[in-house]
Amino acid sequence: MSKAGLAAVRGMNDVLPAEIGAWQHLERITRELFAAYGYEELRVPMVEQTTLFKRSIGEFTDIVEKEMFTFTEADGESLTLRPEATAGIARAAITNGLLRGARLKLWTSGPMFRHERPQAGRYRQFTQIDVEALGFAGPDIDIEMIAMTARLWRQLGITRVQLKLNSLGTPDARKAYREHLVTYFTQHAAALDADSQRRLGGNPLRILDSKNPAMQAVVSGAPLLTEHLDAESRAHFDALCATLAAMNIPYVIDPRLVRGLDYYSRTVFEWVTDALGSQNAICSGGRYDGLIDQLGGEHTPAIGFAMGVERVVALLRQGGQEFPRPAPHVYVVASGDRAMQVGLALVESLRDQHAALRFEMNQGGGNFKAQFRRADRSGAPLALVLGDNELERGVAALKPLRQEGGQQEVPLAELAARIPAILTTLNG
Ligand code: HAM
Repeated sequence: MSKAGLAAVRGMNDVLPAEIGAWQHLERITRELFAAYGYEELRVPMVEQTTLFKRSIGEFTDIVEKEMFTFTEADGESLTLRPEATAGIARAAITNGLLRGARLKLWTSGPMFRHERPQAGRYRQFTQIDVEALGFAGPDIDIEMIAMTARLWRQLGITRVQLKLNSLGTPDARKAYREHLVTYFTQHAAALDADSQRRLGGNPLRILDSKNPAMQAVVSGAPLLTEHLDAESRAHFDALCATLAAMNIPYVIDPRLVRGLDYYSRTVFEWVTDALGSQNAICSGGRYDGLIDQLGGEHTPAIGFAMGVERVVALLRQGGQEFPRPAPHVYVVASGDRAMQVGLALVESLRDQHAALRFEMNQGGGNFKAQFRRADRSGAPLALVLGDNELERGVAALKPLRQEGGQQEVPLAELAARIPAILTTLNG
């Protein structure tokens, strides 16, 4: 707890300037990548009606049962901080009339909220970059989306990742499978832990996801969904796998990958890493062909994924890449009231003429020595020095900071023309 008696809320983190470079790098790369694949950005609210999440993510999921930040408005309406973005995007597509047979390729990013037990890589406020393609039945879009994520890891220099794939089939096939599972787990009820016993009634598929070592034997003996797929889902999945193999995108089929949200059908996938401890999923998603009609929109097959930004950033930082703040091109040292006054106007005019150059002007005073220390620390290759003495003669000094010698006096009116050339010689 800080001196002021304030503390950040548990599971919610500040992103400090020293860390922001990696975030901005990821944001820049994804923004360009998504645009190159034809995706457009949309932004949806952080708060939605609670019923939206209950109807989409599912009543018997961990998220809806125990992880939502929910509050009640004065008029009794129940609202929830979004635990994920897919439901809000589906809602936005319906309520804004964006569908009508259209095909939409969308992405969004921002904070999500889940009241989970915080630990490294698992937070109560975390950030997702989320991509959705609405109106595509696949499997071509499934493949392209996975190829896009594989390209993203390459662009980011992330190598310790593995793609896991599964198919959940159609809701009908899953219903039949669910009965097989209930029969099997009921026969083995004594071997189930309390959590799984509870799930047996509501969401038996989630039992397959159990991390409890004592349950691994009973889980591994359970019937597999992949053995109960309908013919069309099987063909969809086979085409997906065959094309990924032909494109040299490695994957493993994980028949126990069931995902923690109920809206999925057919393809589900997860990129996992062995470099982050137990929170190993960095990017996950799948098809949700039934969600939009279930929410009251027209039938729209769809697929999407979201990556956990904190986890991807942790991988980037682990890789030893540095993302320093870009240094100014020119640090402006101005000593004396008059020099300060003239300097402020002068630097504004230099900024007007060279929008691509970064001029950082010393602020907060200080003698020349102190200002040069700051200039050095800024990493700028060049200092622009304004003193009363120089101003009287209508000149300023340009002083290289990373090389010996070469200080020169330049008439104020010529600064704008001379600075770019001097910077070029310094960089060369
Ligand atoms: P999800 O698997 O719940 O899927 O979350 C996606 C990613 O968000 C995870 O792979 C993980 O990297 C990150 N994540 C989830 N929970 C936390 C947490 N508590 N702290 C830090 N990171 C976390 C979805 O949210 C789906 N909406 C994805 C999707 C989009 N499916 C279709 N379209």
